[in-house]
Amino acid sequence: MKVLVVGNGGREHALAWKLLNSPQVEQVFCAPGNAGTAAMAGCQNLPLAVDDFAGIRDFALANGIELVVVGPELPLSLGIVDYLRANQIMVFGPNQAGAQLEASKSWAKALMVEAGIPTAASATFTREEAAQAKAYVQQQGAPVVVKADGLAAGKGVCVARTVAEAEEAIESSFSGQFGAAGNIVVIEEFLTGQEASILALTDGEVIAPLLPAQDHKAIGEGDTGPNTGGMGAYAPTPVITPELMTQVQTEILEPTLATLRRRGIDYTGVIYAGLMISPTGEIKVLEFNCRFGDPETQAILPLLETPLDELMVACCSKSLAQLLPIRFLPEAAACVVMAAGGYPGDYEKGKIITGLEAANATGAQVFHAGTQLQGENIVTSGGRVLGVTATGATFAEALRRAYAAVDCIHFDGAYYRRDIGYRVTT
Ligand SMILES: Nc1ncnc2c1ncn2[C@@H]1O[C@H](COP(=O)(O)OP(=O)(O)O)[C@@H](O)[C@H]1O
Ligand SMILES: [Mg+2]
Repeated sequence: MKVLVVGNGGREHALAWKLLNSPQVEQVFCAPGNAGTAAMAGCQNLPLAVDDFAGIRDFALANGIELVVVGPELPLSLGIVDYLRANQIMVFGPNQAGAQLEASKSWAKALMVEAGIPTAASATFTREEAAQAKAYVQQQGAPVVVKADGLAAGKGVCVARTVAEAEEAIESSFSGQFGAAGNIVVIEEFLTGQEASILALTDGEVIAPLLPAQDHKAIGEGDTGPNTGGMGAYAPTPVITPELMTQVQTEILEPTLATLRRRGIDYTGVIYAGLMISPTGEIKVLEFNCRFGDPETQAILPLLETPLDELMVACCSKSLAQLLPIRFLPEAAACVVMAAGGYPGDYEKGKIITGLEAANATGAQVFHAGTQLQGENIVTSGGRVLGVTATGATFAEALRRAYAAVDCIHFDGAYYRRDIGYRVTT
Protein backbone atom coordinates (compact mmCIF):
# COMPACT_ATOMS: atom_id res chain seq x y z
CA MET A 1 0.00 0.00 0.00
CA LYS A 2 1.10 3.55 -0.76
CA VAL A 3 0.11 6.20 1.77
CA LEU A 4 0.32 9.99 1.61
CA VAL A 5 0.61 11.87 4.91
CA VAL A 6 -0.35 15.55 4.86
CA GLY A 7 1.66 17.77 7.23
CA ASN A 8 5.21 18.59 8.30
CA GLY A 9 5.40 18.31 12.08
CA GLY A 10 6.54 15.79 14.66
CA ARG A 11 3.10 14.19 14.60
CA GLU A 12 3.38 13.54 10.88
CA HIS A 13 6.89 12.10 11.21
CA ALA A 14 5.54 9.73 13.87
CA LEU A 15 2.56 8.78 11.69
CA ALA A 16 4.79 8.13 8.66
CA TRP A 17 7.23 6.11 10.80
CA LYS A 18 4.46 3.99 12.29
CA LEU A 19 2.80 3.41 8.93
CA LEU A 20 6.13 2.25 7.48
CA ASN A 21 6.40 -0.26 10.34
CA SER A 22 3.45 -2.11 8.85
CA PRO A 23 4.38 -4.93 6.47
CA GLN A 24 1.58 -3.87 4.13
CA VAL A 25 2.84 -0.32 3.64
CA GLU A 26 5.43 -0.21 0.91
CA GLN A 27 5.85 3.54 0.57
CA VAL A 28 4.87 6.74 2.35
CA PHE A 29 4.85 10.23 0.87
CA CYS A 30 4.72 13.36 2.99
CA ALA A 31 3.26 16.65 1.82
CA PRO A 32 5.42 18.52 2.56
CA GLY A 33 7.20 16.60 5.37
CA ASN A 34 10.45 17.62 7.06
CA ALA A 35 14.10 16.51 7.19
CA GLY A 36 13.11 13.53 9.35
CA THR A 37 10.56 12.14 6.93
CA ALA A 38 12.97 12.81 4.04
CA ALA A 39 15.63 10.64 5.70
CA MET A 40 13.41 7.61 6.42
CA ALA A 41 13.82 4.61 4.12
CA GLY A 42 10.61 4.17 2.13
CA CYS A 43 9.50 7.74 2.69
CA GLN A 44 9.63 10.65 0.27
CA ASN A 45 8.71 14.32 0.68
CA LEU A 46 6.58 16.12 -1.86
CA PRO A 47 6.81 19.88 -2.45
CA LEU A 48 3.09 20.32 -1.75
CA ALA A 49 1.60 22.62 0.90
CA VAL A 50 -1.02 21.19 3.25
CA ASP A 51 -3.71 23.35 1.65
CA ASP A 52 -2.75 22.52 -1.95
CA PHE A 53 -5.76 20.24 -2.36
CA ALA A 54 -5.51 20.01 -6.15
CA GLY A 55 -1.80 19.19 -5.98
CA ILE A 56 -2.42 16.46 -3.40
CA ARG A 57 -5.29 15.03 -5.43
CA ASP A 58 -3.27 15.03 -8.66
CA PHE A 59 -0.33 13.29 -7.01
CA ALA A 60 -2.57 10.73 -5.31
CA LEU A 61 -4.42 9.85 -8.51
CA ALA A 62 -1.28 9.72 -10.66
CA ASN A 63 0.68 7.57 -8.21
CA GLY A 64 -1.84 5.03 -6.97
CA ILE A 65 -2.06 6.39 -3.42
CA GLU A 66 -4.51 4.16 -1.58
CA LEU A 67 -4.81 6.17 1.62
CA VAL A 68 -4.33 9.84 2.48
CA VAL A 69 -3.81 10.65 6.17
CA VAL A 70 -4.37 14.27 7.16
CA GLY A 71 -2.32 15.42 10.15
CA PRO A 72 -3.13 19.08 10.89
CA GLU A 73 -6.44 20.77 11.65
CA LEU A 74 -6.08 23.52 9.05
CA PRO A 75 -6.65 21.43 5.90
CA LEU A 76 -9.36 19.44 7.71
CA SER A 77 -11.23 22.63 8.57
CA LEU A 78 -10.82 23.79 4.97
CA GLY A 79 -12.52 20.62 3.71
CA ILE A 80 -9.64 18.54 2.32
CA VAL A 81 -11.50 15.32 3.17
CA ASP A 82 -14.64 16.34 1.25
CA TYR A 83 -12.44 17.39 -1.68
CA LEU A 84 -10.42 14.17 -1.90
CA ARG A 85 -13.44 11.91 -1.32
CA ALA A 86 -15.20 13.64 -4.20
CA ASN A 87 -12.25 12.35 -6.25
CA GLN A 88 -12.69 8.77 -4.95
CA ILE A 89 -9.56 8.94 -2.78
CA MET A 90 -9.65 7.15 0.58
CA VAL A 91 -8.79 9.67 3.28
CA PHE A 92 -8.43 9.37 7.05
CA GLY A 93 -9.88 12.38 8.86
CA PRO A 94 -13.22 14.10 9.39
CA ASN A 95 -15.02 16.08 6.71
CA GLN A 96 -15.38 19.85 7.01
CA ALA A 97 -18.62 19.59 8.96
CA GLY A 98 -16.99 17.23 11.46
CA ALA A 99 -13.87 19.39 11.77
CA GLN A 100 -16.03 22.10 13.36
CA LEU A 101 -15.51 20.14 16.55
CA GLU A 102 -12.11 21.84 16.65
CA ALA A 103 -12.57 24.79 14.30
CA SER A 104 -15.34 26.38 16.36
CA LYS A 105 -15.20 26.21 20.15
CA SER A 106 -18.75 27.62 20.40
CA TRP A 107 -20.04 24.92 18.03
CA ALA A 108 -18.29 22.24 20.08
CA LYS A 109 -19.65 23.73 23.31
CA ALA A 110 -23.19 23.68 21.96
CA LEU A 111 -22.72 20.06 20.94
CA MET A 112 -21.45 19.15 24.40
CA VAL A 113 -24.41 20.85 26.05
CA GLU A 114 -26.82 19.08 23.70
CA ALA A 115 -25.13 15.73 24.39
CA GLY A 116 -24.99 16.26 28.14
CA ILE A 117 -21.21 15.96 28.15
CA PRO A 118 -19.52 17.30 31.29
CA THR A 119 -17.72 20.56 30.48
CA ALA A 120 -17.02 23.95 32.04
CA ALA A 121 -20.03 26.28 32.30
CA SER A 122 -19.77 28.92 29.59
CA ALA A 123 -21.35 31.69 27.59
CA THR A 124 -20.72 32.70 23.97
CA PHE A 125 -20.60 36.28 22.66
CA THR A 126 -20.23 37.80 19.20
CA ARG A 127 -18.31 40.95 18.44
CA GLU A 128 -21.53 42.99 18.61
CA GLU A 129 -21.97 41.74 22.17
CA ALA A 130 -18.66 42.99 23.60
CA ALA A 131 -20.42 44.93 26.36
CA GLN A 132 -22.38 41.84 27.44
CA ALA A 133 -19.17 39.76 27.35
CA LYS A 134 -17.46 42.18 29.73
CA ALA A 135 -20.52 42.32 31.97
CA TYR A 136 -20.43 38.52 32.06
CA VAL A 137 -16.80 38.34 33.23
CA GLN A 138 -17.48 41.02 35.84
CA GLN A 139 -20.36 38.95 37.12
CA GLN A 140 -18.33 35.69 37.05
CA GLY A 141 -15.18 37.17 38.57
CA ALA A 142 -11.66 35.83 38.10
CA PRO A 143 -10.00 33.53 37.36
CA VAL A 144 -12.00 33.01 34.20
CA VAL A 145 -11.09 31.67 30.75
CA VAL A 146 -11.55 33.60 27.49
CA LYS A 147 -11.33 31.59 24.26
CA ALA A 148 -11.32 32.80 20.69
CA ASP A 149 -13.82 30.66 18.81
CA GLY A 150 -11.77 29.63 15.79
CA LEU A 151 -8.35 28.19 14.97
CA ALA A 152 -5.62 30.33 16.53
CA ALA A 153 -2.57 28.03 16.44
CA GLY A 154 -2.82 27.39 20.19
CA LYS A 155 -2.71 31.10 21.05
CA GLY A 156 -6.43 31.84 21.31
CA VAL A 157 -7.00 30.94 24.97
CA CYS A 158 -6.43 33.32 27.88
CA VAL A 159 -6.63 31.94 31.39
CA ALA A 160 -7.29 35.33 33.01
CA ARG A 161 -6.15 35.85 36.61
CA THR A 162 -8.08 39.11 36.91
CA VAL A 163 -11.26 40.57 35.48
CA ALA A 164 -9.18 43.30 33.82
CA GLU A 165 -7.07 40.68 32.06
CA ALA A 166 -10.22 38.91 30.86
CA GLU A 167 -11.64 42.19 29.53
CA GLU A 168 -8.38 42.82 27.72
CA ALA A 169 -8.52 39.36 26.15
CA ILE A 170 -12.08 40.01 24.98
CA GLU A 171 -11.05 43.33 23.47
CA SER A 172 -8.00 42.01 21.66
CA SER A 173 -9.94 39.05 20.28
CA PHE A 174 -12.71 41.34 18.97
CA SER A 175 -10.19 43.82 17.59
CA GLY A 176 -8.75 41.20 15.26
CA GLN A 177 -5.76 39.66 17.06
CA PHE A 178 -6.77 36.25 15.70
CA GLY A 179 -8.46 37.46 12.53
CA ALA A 180 -11.95 36.08 11.92
CA ALA A 181 -11.21 33.29 14.44
CA GLY A 182 -11.68 35.86 17.21
CA ASN A 183 -15.02 37.31 16.10
CA ILE A 184 -16.76 35.08 18.63
CA VAL A 185 -15.48 34.37 22.14
CA VAL A 186 -16.41 31.61 24.55
CA ILE A 187 -16.06 32.61 28.19
CA GLU A 188 -15.63 29.70 30.49
CA GLU A 189 -15.53 28.72 34.11
CA PHE A 190 -11.96 28.17 35.36
CA LEU A 191 -11.29 24.52 36.17
CA THR A 192 -8.48 23.07 38.24
CA GLY A 193 -6.82 19.68 38.20
CA GLN A 194 -4.65 17.61 35.90
CA GLU A 195 -5.10 17.56 32.16
CA ALA A 196 -5.13 14.46 29.99
CA SER A 197 -5.54 13.81 26.29
CA ILE A 198 -7.71 11.04 24.93
CA LEU A 199 -7.22 10.33 21.24
CA ALA A 200 -9.97 8.06 19.97
CA LEU A 201 -10.37 6.46 16.55
CA THR A 202 -13.80 6.31 14.96
CA ASP A 203 -15.39 5.00 11.78
CA GLY A 204 -18.57 6.94 12.53
CA GLU A 205 -20.17 3.90 14.15
CA VAL A 206 -17.85 2.77 16.93
CA ILE A 207 -15.26 4.82 18.77
CA ALA A 208 -12.18 3.41 20.49
CA PRO A 209 -9.61 5.31 22.54
CA LEU A 210 -5.86 4.94 22.18
CA LEU A 211 -3.76 5.01 25.36
CA PRO A 212 -4.41 8.10 27.51
CA ALA A 213 -1.59 10.63 27.34
CA GLN A 214 -0.51 13.70 29.20
CA ASP A 215 1.44 16.55 27.66
CA HIS A 216 3.38 19.43 29.17
CA LYS A 217 2.14 22.66 27.64
CA ALA A 218 4.13 25.22 29.60
CA ILE A 219 7.60 26.25 28.43
CA GLY A 220 9.15 26.16 31.90
CA GLU A 221 9.98 23.38 34.31
CA GLY A 222 7.33 22.81 36.97
CA ASP A 223 4.71 23.80 34.35
CA THR A 224 5.56 27.50 34.58
CA GLY A 225 5.64 30.29 32.01
CA PRO A 226 3.69 30.70 28.79
CA ASN A 227 1.97 27.83 27.00
CA THR A 228 3.55 26.23 23.94
CA GLY A 229 2.43 23.67 21.39
CA GLY A 230 3.67 21.08 23.90
CA MET A 231 7.11 20.46 25.41
CA GLY A 232 6.78 16.74 25.97
CA ALA A 233 4.30 13.96 26.58
CA TYR A 234 4.01 10.50 28.03
CA ALA A 235 1.64 7.57 27.83
CA PRO A 236 -0.25 5.83 29.31
CA THR A 237 -0.95 8.44 31.98
CA PRO A 238 -2.10 6.77 35.22
CA VAL A 239 -4.35 9.76 35.97
CA ILE A 240 -6.85 8.05 33.66
CA THR A 241 -7.57 4.90 35.61
CA PRO A 242 -9.45 2.03 33.92
CA GLU A 243 -12.60 3.22 35.72
CA LEU A 244 -12.17 6.76 34.39
CA MET A 245 -11.48 5.38 30.91
CA THR A 246 -14.82 3.56 31.00
CA GLN A 247 -16.47 6.78 32.06
CA VAL A 248 -14.76 8.69 29.23
CA GLN A 249 -16.03 6.09 26.79
CA THR A 250 -19.67 6.13 27.93
CA GLU A 251 -20.07 9.74 29.07
CA ILE A 252 -17.91 11.56 26.52
CA LEU A 253 -16.82 9.63 23.44
CA GLU A 254 -20.01 7.73 22.66
CA PRO A 255 -22.38 10.67 23.28
CA THR A 256 -20.14 12.90 21.13
CA LEU A 257 -20.30 10.48 18.23
CA ALA A 258 -24.04 9.95 18.66
CA THR A 259 -24.68 13.69 18.67
CA LEU A 260 -22.54 14.19 15.56
CA ARG A 261 -24.62 11.53 13.84
CA ARG A 262 -27.83 13.19 14.97
CA ARG A 263 -26.56 16.33 13.28
CA GLY A 264 -26.09 14.35 10.09
CA ILE A 265 -22.31 14.26 10.34
CA ASP A 266 -20.60 11.00 9.41
CA TYR A 267 -17.39 11.55 11.38
CA THR A 268 -14.36 9.40 10.65
CA GLY A 269 -10.83 9.84 11.94
CA VAL A 270 -9.64 10.98 15.35
CA ILE A 271 -11.69 12.64 18.06
CA TYR A 272 -9.27 14.10 20.58
CA ALA A 273 -10.80 15.07 23.91
CA GLY A 274 -8.74 17.44 26.06
CA LEU A 275 -9.81 16.67 29.61
CA MET A 276 -9.46 18.24 33.03
CA ILE A 277 -9.55 15.77 35.92
CA SER A 278 -10.36 17.50 39.20
CA PRO A 279 -8.58 16.52 42.41
CA THR A 280 -11.69 14.50 43.33
CA GLY A 281 -11.63 12.62 40.02
CA GLU A 282 -14.38 14.52 38.23
CA ILE A 283 -13.81 14.73 34.47
CA LYS A 284 -14.71 17.67 32.24
CA VAL A 285 -13.96 18.29 28.58
CA LEU A 286 -11.81 21.39 27.95
CA GLU A 287 -11.94 21.09 24.19
CA PHE A 288 -12.11 18.72 21.25
CA ASN A 289 -9.58 18.46 18.46
CA CYS A 290 -10.34 16.78 15.15
CA ARG A 291 -6.91 15.16 14.63
CA PHE A 292 -4.01 13.45 16.38
CA GLY A 293 -2.36 15.51 19.14
CA ASP A 294 1.20 16.75 18.91
CA PRO A 295 3.28 15.64 20.88
CA GLU A 296 0.92 13.02 22.36
CA THR A 297 1.03 11.03 19.12
CA GLN A 298 4.81 10.72 19.38
CA ALA A 299 4.37 9.06 22.80
CA ILE A 300 1.35 6.88 21.95
CA LEU A 301 2.29 5.39 18.57
CA PRO A 302 5.47 3.58 19.69
CA LEU A 303 3.21 1.53 22.00
CA LEU A 304 0.58 0.70 19.38
CA GLU A 305 0.62 -2.95 18.32
CA THR A 306 -2.36 -3.14 15.96
CA PRO A 307 -1.07 -1.99 12.55
CA LEU A 308 -1.89 1.70 12.13
CA ASP A 309 -2.69 1.35 8.42
CA GLU A 310 -5.27 -1.34 9.19
CA LEU A 311 -6.91 0.85 11.82
CA MET A 312 -7.06 3.80 9.46
CA VAL A 313 -8.47 1.80 6.55
CA ALA A 314 -11.05 0.31 8.94
CA CYS A 315 -12.06 3.82 10.02
CA CYS A 316 -12.52 4.78 6.37
CA SER A 317 -14.55 1.66 5.56
CA LYS A 318 -16.77 1.37 8.64
CA SER A 319 -15.16 -1.82 9.89
CA LEU A 320 -13.31 -0.62 12.99
CA ALA A 321 -15.36 -2.98 15.19
CA GLN A 322 -13.50 -5.92 13.62
CA LEU A 323 -10.15 -4.65 14.91
CA LEU A 324 -11.23 -4.08 18.50
CA PRO A 325 -9.83 -4.12 21.06
CA ILE A 326 -6.88 -2.11 19.79
CA ARG A 327 -3.69 -3.74 21.07
CA PHE A 328 -0.83 -1.91 22.83
CA LEU A 329 2.52 -2.91 24.29
CA PRO A 330 2.28 -2.99 28.09
CA GLU A 331 5.08 -0.44 28.43
CA ALA A 332 5.60 3.25 29.04
CA ALA A 333 6.65 5.87 26.50
CA ALA A 334 7.90 9.43 26.83
CA CYS A 335 8.65 12.19 24.34
CA VAL A 336 10.93 15.13 25.17
CA VAL A 337 10.61 18.12 22.85
CA MET A 338 13.76 20.04 21.94
CA ALA A 339 12.89 23.61 21.00
CA ALA A 340 14.67 26.63 19.58
CA GLY A 341 15.90 29.09 22.21
CA GLY A 342 13.33 31.87 22.65
CA TYR A 343 10.34 29.74 21.70
CA PRO A 344 7.36 30.28 22.17
CA GLY A 345 8.46 33.90 21.59
CA ASP A 346 10.83 34.92 18.80
CA TYR A 347 13.52 32.42 17.90
CA GLU A 348 16.15 31.95 15.25
CA LYS A 349 16.10 29.35 12.49
CA GLY A 350 18.78 27.70 10.38
CA LYS A 351 20.86 26.29 13.27
CA ILE A 352 22.80 23.17 12.29
CA ILE A 353 21.68 20.07 14.22
CA THR A 354 24.33 17.47 15.08
CA GLY A 355 24.28 14.14 16.92
CA LEU A 356 21.10 12.77 15.36
CA GLU A 357 22.73 9.48 14.36
CA ALA A 358 24.16 8.97 17.82
CA ALA A 359 20.74 9.72 19.33
CA ASN A 360 19.01 7.20 17.07
CA ALA A 361 21.72 4.63 17.86
CA THR A 362 20.63 4.69 21.52
CA GLY A 363 17.37 3.05 20.41
CA ALA A 364 15.29 6.18 20.89
CA GLN A 365 13.16 7.55 18.06
CA VAL A 366 14.00 11.10 17.10
CA PHE A 367 10.88 12.56 15.50
CA HIS A 368 11.58 15.73 13.56
CA ALA A 369 9.21 18.70 13.79
CA GLY A 370 10.82 22.00 12.74
CA THR A 371 13.74 20.75 10.66
CA GLN A 372 14.79 21.02 7.07
CA LEU A 373 17.58 19.87 4.81
CA GLN A 374 20.09 22.52 3.80
CA GLY A 375 22.77 21.07 1.56
CA GLU A 376 24.48 18.37 3.60
CA ASN A 377 23.08 19.64 6.88
CA ILE A 378 19.88 19.28 8.83
CA VAL A 379 18.96 22.68 10.24
CA THR A 380 16.26 24.04 12.52
CA SER A 381 13.23 25.58 10.81
CA GLY A 382 10.65 25.95 13.56
CA GLY A 383 10.06 26.56 17.26
CA ARG A 384 9.62 22.95 18.23
CA VAL A 385 12.52 21.22 16.51
CA LEU A 386 12.59 17.56 17.60
CA GLY A 387 10.55 15.13 19.70
CA VAL A 388 12.87 12.57 21.22
CA THR A 389 10.88 9.49 22.18
CA ALA A 390 11.73 6.30 24.02
CA THR A 391 9.90 3.39 25.59
CA GLY A 392 10.69 1.30 28.65
CA ALA A 393 9.25 -1.05 31.21
CA THR A 394 8.65 1.92 33.49
CA PHE A 395 8.29 5.67 33.01
CA ALA A 396 11.64 6.15 34.73
CA GLU A 397 13.32 3.91 32.17
CA ALA A 398 11.54 5.48 29.18
CA LEU A 399 12.53 8.94 30.40
CA ARG A 400 16.12 7.93 31.13
CA ARG A 401 16.42 6.60 27.57
CA ALA A 402 14.78 9.66 26.03
CA TYR A 403 17.09 12.04 27.92
CA ALA A 404 20.15 9.92 27.04
CA ALA A 405 19.28 10.47 23.38
CA VAL A 406 18.59 14.18 23.96
CA ASP A 407 22.11 14.45 25.41
CA CYS A 408 23.55 13.31 22.06
CA ILE A 409 21.89 16.13 20.10
CA HIS A 410 23.20 19.66 19.73
CA PHE A 411 22.16 22.89 18.07
CA ASP A 412 22.73 26.51 19.00
CA GLY A 413 20.26 27.64 21.63
CA ALA A 414 18.60 24.22 22.07
CA TYR A 415 16.11 24.31 24.93
CA TYR A 416 14.19 21.47 26.53
CA ARG A 417 12.50 20.77 29.84
CA ARG A 418 14.35 18.36 32.11
CA ASP A 419 11.25 17.44 34.09
CA ILE A 420 9.02 15.76 31.52
CA GLY A 421 6.95 13.10 33.30
CA TYR A 422 7.65 14.45 36.79
CA ARG A 423 4.20 13.39 37.94
CA VAL A 424 4.93 9.74 37.18
CA THR A 425 8.51 9.59 38.44
CA THR A 426 8.37 11.44 41.76
N1 LIG B 1 -11.93 26.07 31.59
C1 LIG B 1 -10.61 26.02 31.79
N2 LIG B 1 -10.10 26.07 33.04
C2 LIG B 1 -8.76 26.07 33.24
N3 LIG B 1 -7.84 26.01 32.26
C3 LIG B 1 -8.28 25.95 30.99
C4 LIG B 1 -9.68 25.96 30.68
N4 LIG B 1 -9.81 25.90 29.34
C5 LIG B 1 -8.57 25.85 28.84
N5 LIG B 1 -7.64 25.89 29.81
C6 LIG B 1 -6.17 25.85 29.64
O1 LIG B 1 -5.82 26.42 28.40
C7 LIG B 1 -5.23 25.44 27.54
C8 LIG B 1 -5.70 25.67 26.12
O2 LIG B 1 -7.10 25.58 26.04
P1 LIG B 1 -7.84 24.70 24.95
O3 LIG B 1 -9.29 24.80 25.18
O4 LIG B 1 -7.23 23.35 24.95
O5 LIG B 1 -7.53 25.49 23.60
P2 LIG B 1 -6.41 25.38 22.47
O6 LIG B 1 -5.72 24.05 22.63
O7 LIG B 1 -7.18 25.50 21.24
O8 LIG B 1 -5.49 26.53 22.70
C9 LIG B 1 -5.68 24.11 28.12
O9 LIG B 1 -4.82 23.07 27.78
C10 LIG B 1 -5.69 24.42 29.60
O10 LIG B 1 -4.37 24.38 30.12
MG1 LIG C 1 -5.80 22.35 23.68
